[in-house]
Amino acid sequence: MKSTLGVCYYPEHWPEEWWAEDARRMREIGLTWVRIGEFAWSRMEPEPGRIDLGWLDRAIAALGKAGLKVVLGTPTATPPRWMLTRHPDMLARDREGRERGFGSRRHYCFSHRGYREDCAGIVSVLAERYGRNPHVQAWQTDNEYACHDTVLSYSDAARSAFRDWLAQKYQSPQALNRAWGNVFWSMDYASFDEIGLPNLTVTEPNPAHVMDFRRFASDEVVSFNRLQTDIIRKYSDRPIAHNYMGRITEFDHFATGADLDIASWDSYPIGFLSDRLEASSEHKRRYLRQGDPDFQAFHHDLYRAVGARRTGGPVAEGRWWVMEQQPGPVNWAPFNPAPLPGMARLWAWEAFAHGAEAVCYFRWRQAPFAQEQMHAGLLRPDSAPAPAYAEAAQVASEIEALGELAPVRAPVALVFDYESAWAWDTQPQGRDFDYFRLAFAAYRALRRLGLSVDMLPPDATDLSDYRLVLAPGVATLSQALRGALQTVGGEVILGPRTNAKTSDFAIPTTPLPPAIPGLDCTVALVESLPPDVAEPLVKGGAIRHWLERLEGAAEVVEATASGQPVLMRAGKVLYLGGWPDDEAFARIIADRCAALGVATESLPEGLRLRDTAGLRFAINYGPEPVTYAGRTIGAADVAWWPR
Ligand code: GAL
Repeated sequence: MKSTLGVCYYPEHWPEEWWAEDARRMREIGLTWVRIGEFAWSRMEPEPGRIDLGWLDRAIAALGKAGLKVVLGTPTATPPRWMLTRHPDMLARDREGRERGFGSRRHYCFSHRGYREDCAGIVSVLAERYGRNPHVQAWQTDNEYACHDTVLSYSDAARSAFRDWLAQKYQSPQALNRAWGNVFWSMDYASFDEIGLPNLTVTEPNPAHVMDFRRFASDEVVSFNRLQTDIIRKYSDRPIAHNYMGRITEFDHFATGADLDIASWDSYPIGFLSDRLEASSEHKRRYLRQGDPDFQAFHHDLYRAVGARRTGGPVAEGRWWVMEQQPGPVNWAPFNPAPLPGMARLWAWEAFAHGAEAVCYFRWRQAPFAQEQMHAGLLRPDSAPAPAYAEAAQVASEIEALGELAPVRAPVALVFDYESAWAWDTQPQGRDFDYFRLAFAAYRALRRLGLSVDMLPPDATDLSDYRLVLAPGVATLSQALRGALQTVGGEVILGPRTNAKTSDFAIPTTPLPPAIPGLDCTVALVESLPPDVAEPLVKGGAIRHWLERLEGAAEVVEATASGQPVLMRAGKVLYLGGWPDDEAFARIIADRCAALGVATESLPEGLRLRDTAGLRFAINYGPEPVTYAGRTIGAADVAWWPR
C-alpha cells in the first residue's frame, strides 16, 4: 500500500477567501488527506433544528477541487451551548459528583439518552448529505473518546443505565450478590434499583462492583460509537475511523474496533514523554525533543491490531492511521519543547514502517485564538511555514520515490488486554502496579533486542505463527487464549499476575495460575515492593514492584539471588513470577529467543528497527548519529534498505 500524508484543518476558523489557497498549498507540499468538521457543531446547527451546511458544502468543494480527499468528522465531542438548555442533565459528573461544565469540550455523559438522540440526528444529517460526496473519502466518529478523563461518569443517567446493564447481566440481585461476594460487610442488595455507582463510599467500594462499572462504561463508549457507525453505513460506503489516544485504557478499543474500518490515533511524542511516561530524568532529558523511542511504536502496533478487528484478518495487516501527528511544540504538557529538526519526518516514517496508511499532521495553521493558540501547526499564525512544513514536503516526495510498503508478520507477539488495565487499576495491591506500564516494559525489552512486534487481543485463538508470545498481567485468561496456548509455534511467557482473578473478580480457589495444562507451578504468595527495592536475580538484573513465591515441580529457569524461583517452565509454557527490570526482561527474552532460533541483537541506544515485507527501517531517536550495519544514521534520522 502506498503511504499518504494529510493534515487537520478547521475551515470554520478562517475566512472563506483563504480556503482555496490553503488547499492549493496543501497539495503543493504533497498532502492527500484533510480532516475537517469534528468540532464544528455550533456552526453546523446554530440553533436546535436549524441546519446550516452551506459553508461546509463550499469548504468540501474547495478542498476537493484542489485534489484533496476529505475525512469528515462527526461533531459530537463538542455539543453546543443550546444542547444544555435542551438537556440540562446531559453533563458528565466526576468521581466527586461534580458536573463537568460547559466551556471546553467532551462535557457529555455517554449514557444520556436525549444526548444520544441528538447525536444520531446530526450524524444522520451529515451522512445523508455527504455519504456519497465524491470528495468525502473517509469518516471519523466523534473525537478522542476518553480524552480529559471522560469515560467514567457518575451522573444520574449513568446510574440508571448501569442498573439496567447489571439486571441484564445477572438477571437477579441474588446472582449479583453471589458474584460480587456481597455477604462481605453486609453489602447484599434486594433489588437492582438499590445499587449505586461505586463513588463516594466511605472506604473503597467492592472491587467487583468497580469492575462491572468499568465494563459497563466501556460498553457505553462502544454503543455510542456504534450508534454513529450504523447511521453512517446506511448512507456511505467510505471507511470509518475513530482517533484513539496514547496510553488510554478506559475503554476496550478492540470492542470499538469491531465497528470501525480503520483504527487511528493521535501521536504527540514530546508531550507524551513529559506527561505520560515513567522514566528517569536522564532519559527524559535525552529524548526531550524526540519523544520516547518505544512509546509511539507501541501504539502503532497496538492500533494495527485494533484495526484488524472488523475484518478479523491477521493483526499484522490491520488498517490504521495516525490521524493527528505532532508538528512542533504542543500547548498541553507541563513543558513544551520543540522537536529536533528531522523529527516531524522521522515520526511519519516510523508510522509507515509499522504499516500506517496515512499520517495527518495536526493542524494546518496555528490558531491565534482560544485554548490551543500556543500549539504549533504546519503554518505559523501569520501563514508563513513553520519548521514541520518542509519536513512534511520532504516525506511526501520520499513516499513518491519509495513506492508501496507491504506489511509482514512479526516473529514475536505481546497480548494486550484492556480489562486487565481496569483490574489492576481497581486492585493494584502495590501503588505502582500499572498494567500499561508492565505491558510497555515487555514491549520495550522486545524492541531493544531489534525485534518487530505484533500485538494480540486477549481472545486471540491462534498463536501458531509466533515464535514467542508474552502475556504479562492478563488478569483472567479467556477460554480462547487458554486454547491458543496449545497452538503456539514456539513458547509463551505468562505472568506476573496472569490468570490471578476469575471473571467475577475473585481469587480462583484452585491453585494459581490455574487451568494452564501441564504447568506444575503454583503461586503460593504474592508481594508488592516499594520502588526503591530490588530483588537481584542470579543471572543479572532484578525483580521490582512485584514478586510471587512460586512452587511446583516445573523446571526453574530463573531464580533470585536468595534462591527463590522466578521463571518456571513446562514444555512451551513459562510462568514469570515477578516484574523484571529492563536488564532482566531483555536477558530473559534474549535467552528464550536464542533457544527458539529467533535472532536478536543489542541495538545502539536510541536506535530501533522495524521490518516490512521488503525493507528494514532503522529509526534513530537519539540526539547523536549512530553506526549500524555499516551505515551512519544521523540524529533524528531514519534509514531503510532491502532486507
Ligand atoms: C488532541 C485533540 C486535538 C487537539 C490536540 C492538541 O488530543 O484531538 O483536537 O486538541 O490534541 O495536541
